[in-house]
Amino acid sequence: MIGLTARGWSDLPERLQVMVQNADVLLGSPRHLGLIPPFPPQQRLPYPSPLREGLPTLLGEVSGRRVVALASGDPLLAGIGSTLVEMLGATAVRVHPAVSSVAFARARMGWSEESTQLVRLRGGDLDVVRRFLFPGRHLIILSRDAHSPTAVAQVLIDEGYGDSMVTVLGDLGADSESRTESAARTWKGHAPELNVICVACAGSSGAASLAAGLPDEAFDHDGQLTKRDLRASALAHLMPRPGELLWDVGAGAGSIAIEWLRSHPGCRAVAIEHNLDRVKRIRSNAEALGAPSLEVLHSEAADVLASLPQPNAVFIGGGATVETLERSWSALQAGGRLVVHAVTQETEMIMVDCWKRYGGELSRLSVEHLEPIGRYHGWRPARAVVQWSAVKDVG
Ligand SMILES: C[S@@+](CC[C@H](N)C(=O)[O-])C[C@H]1O[C@@H](n2cnc3c(N)ncnc32)[C@H](O)[C@@H]1O
Repeated sequence: MIGLTARGWSDLPERLQVMVQNADVLLGSPRHLGLIPPFPPQQRLPYPSPLREGLPTLLGEVSGRRVVALASGDPLLAGIGSTLVEMLGATAVRVHPAVSSVAFARARMGWSEESTQLVRLRGGDLDVVRRFLFPGRHLIILSRDAHSPTAVAQVLIDEGYGDSMVTVLGDLGADSESRTESAARTWKGHAPELNVICVACAGSSGAASLAAGLPDEAFDHDGQLTKRDLRASALAHLMPRPGELLWDVGAGAGSIAIEWLRSHPGCRAVAIEHNLDRVKRIRSNAEALGAPSLEVLHSEAADVLASLPQPNAVFIGGGATVETLERSWSALQAGGRLVVHAVTQETEMIMVDCWKRYGGELSRLSVEHLEPIGRYHGWRPARAVVQWSAVKDVG
């Protein structure tokens, strides 16, 4: 697996040129293959589209031959390298990275790795940019195509970051390398197909925070929302970890699942809600808060839990019946976390019974807010919530 810069063949060290030349089969995108001079009778095969579905057949056809697969820059940075290693195993794929577009971009901007956030527009979904916007932050956004810069500039304007400086670096490392710069609100630039967007964030931080517990106003809701202090407590007990899957059962406005996803780009979540209006609201909240990957299911919890992938954590905010609690507990992986919130006596009794059998912590959370009473102020208690949280024994 050999990484290419945008200049291609002439940038390859001699030992890798020899490797490419001696290959029986060269795999690559049409752009990659076009960057390598012809070496007949070498066979050249373009990557299939869709990639994941077609790769196993292609790899089967070329197995046993000397194969070199080409990629852009660092093949393991948002590249085909990750897919091939996943399919064939790390020992079967020897990777020779070239300078990545990200390293080039940092070099052009003079930005250190520590001060920069890498953002990938997965599947072209722009909304993910929203969760990384903090004043003074440097973003390097891997574009999908020539239209991405204009679309990103619009997201910045929508989020109050219109003064952010946008620098689009095109064809990095090639003779045709380009650099276009302007504030997001005045961005009119055209970009080449191959580009990276560098954003120096300028805007107000508003409600943005890395910690769980966004203000309730950040969510569109009809009252069915786990309020901020309780939400922060729930997420503390759910313990989001990179790559892990959450079930948010009775998702309401989706706040628990959304904050789980905002905790790390690798986190995954499924929200289950039986009220259609709320399902629509969850989807728009997820987009607005930079968690477009949230999977939202319009369903009764009991009808769908059995078909879901095994979770690492489950939050039950509504529809807590004996069946949904038992099914959630048994579906949890070892070390999995379950958190249930109840406001009714009936649900509380089910939770107490589970607590007796599975252990964990039972807490009664009541928050009081200071509110005006005429010219004075007094405490107004919010409805108390009983929280059961438990970790499934690794044993
Ligand atoms: C208190 S709200 C959850 C709030 C949510 N945690 C949030 O912060 O956005 C409870 C939700 O559970 C939903 N619900 C209740 N029973 C359900 C069931 N059996 N299946 C799916 N959803 C259910 C209700 O429609 C309601 O939206």
